[in-house]
Amino acid sequence: MSAAKAWKVDPSGPLRGDVRVHGSKNAVTKHLVAAMLGDSPSVIRNVPDVGDVAITVDILSSLGIDVSIDGDVATVEPTPTPTSKVPMSFTGLNRIPILLLGPLLTRVGEAFVPLVGGDPIGRRPVDFHVAALRALGAEVEVTDDGVHARATRLRGARIELPFPSVGATESVLLCAVLADGRTVLTNAATEPEVIELALFLQRMGANIGLAPNRRIVIDGVDRLVGASTTLEGDRIEAFSYLVAGLVSGGAVRVAGCEQSRLVTAINTLRRMGADCEITDEWVTARASGSLRPAAVQTATHPGFMTDWQTPLMVLFSRVDGMSVLHETVFENRLVYVPALTRFGCEIELFDSCLGGPACQFHDTNAVHSAVVRGGSALHGAEVDVVDVRAGFSAVIAAAAADSPSVLRGIHHLIRGYHRPAEQMRSIGLSLREITASD
Ligand code: UD1
Repeated sequence: MSAAKAWKVDPSGPLRGDVRVHGSKNAVTKHLVAAMLGDSPSVIRNVPDVGDVAITVDILSSLGIDVSIDGDVATVEPTPTPTSKVPMSFTGLNRIPILLLGPLLTRVGEAFVPLVGGDPIGRRPVDFHVAALRALGAEVEVTDDGVHARATRLRGARIELPFPSVGATESVLLCAVLADGRTVLTNAATEPEVIELALFLQRMGANIGLAPNRRIVIDGVDRLVGASTTLEGDRIEAFSYLVAGLVSGGAVRVAGCEQSRLVTAINTLRRMGADCEITDEWVTARASGSLRPAAVQTATHPGFMTDWQTPLMVLFSRVDGMSVLHETVFENRLVYVPALTRFGCEIELFDSCLGGPACQFHDTNAVHSAVVRGGSALHGAEVDVVDVRAGFSAVIAAAAADSPSVLRGIHHLIRGYHRPAEQMRSIGLSLREITASD
């Protein structure tokens, strides 16, 4: 029988207290990759203790790039001649291998990465990455195993993304900074984690111009040097803990994430009637009266982030009335909803665009809208966590339930949240780590 990690969560009452968030999973992993382009070591601070960092460090080590982690500081020692192939054993673990194609081509002229993984929240194709690499002059072949690429030299190009993809924008940045000549990227993603990566590359010596209207202009340079930076706080974790307080009838004060990264999240909670207090150091959300239902549509930045919708759905379930969620970024992000219904959340799913204008999934079979009837009592359940963000929604549903729950597949949660058991206990959650076979 499997001894995978699971959590037993007991009813614990309102969650209250302080949580400090660290650098974001979605930024740190890309910084580790960027650092391999420098001619000297880079230092990254405020590194979160999350599974994805460990996976990325292992991938880089397998290529001959030495990464040491001391507390929350990572030091990356690049090599001019990394191994060109990411081992097959890294298939399906996270989305990082696809971002390695450009840096490996730049360093050694050829690359193989196994098919990328991540969460089962959509098709998550890599066609934008592949098209961008081809535009930059690489020969790319996609096989059942992964992606093979070759290029004697990458050359700047004009590239327009069909959708402002975070990963594809980062791929282009990582390829173009050391390519010959100018790259003009249009319809680029502008998520804070993308801008953080661009700023880090600029610190390393890259010439990157952020122009209006999702346009990024990169003039290739001959070399980059190591740089040092302190990561900004994780806006997904920050919002998740604010909602953890609200769903349990408590209040969590979150430090470490700037207000500017949470604007839309805070506005959404305020529209629902939450009292949000904001200072230079922290943000708190509490409900002094009843919260109101809402209609929320996920979007690219600066809209309501897709990763914020999993905790929001549990909050919708706690609020009297009907709320609507329209997911417009990933076609299958609502894959975690069946687990929530096992706690007693009343959620109906639809393949149409509800609560907002038609999105990219209009007229497809993608089930991407949800109507939530809030206000019913939640009960303990045994559920399998299916992805990193789904994991947090299961934990806070269990926190709000009136009887014990068992959450299996907790490794998904650990991949993206900084020491979640420790953080959740510190705000009053009664949880015990067990093996799934207990
Ligand atoms: C990143 C984040 C994830 C976040 C998402 C959107 C990381 C590790 N993950 O994911 O938490 O939810 O941005 O903010 O940083 N697409 C294609 N072809 C491609 C690439 C993407 O069709 O080659 C589509 C995807 O299927 C999706 C949309 O573009 O529908 C957005 O995906 P993208 O922004 O690339 O997400 P990730 O970078 O994978």
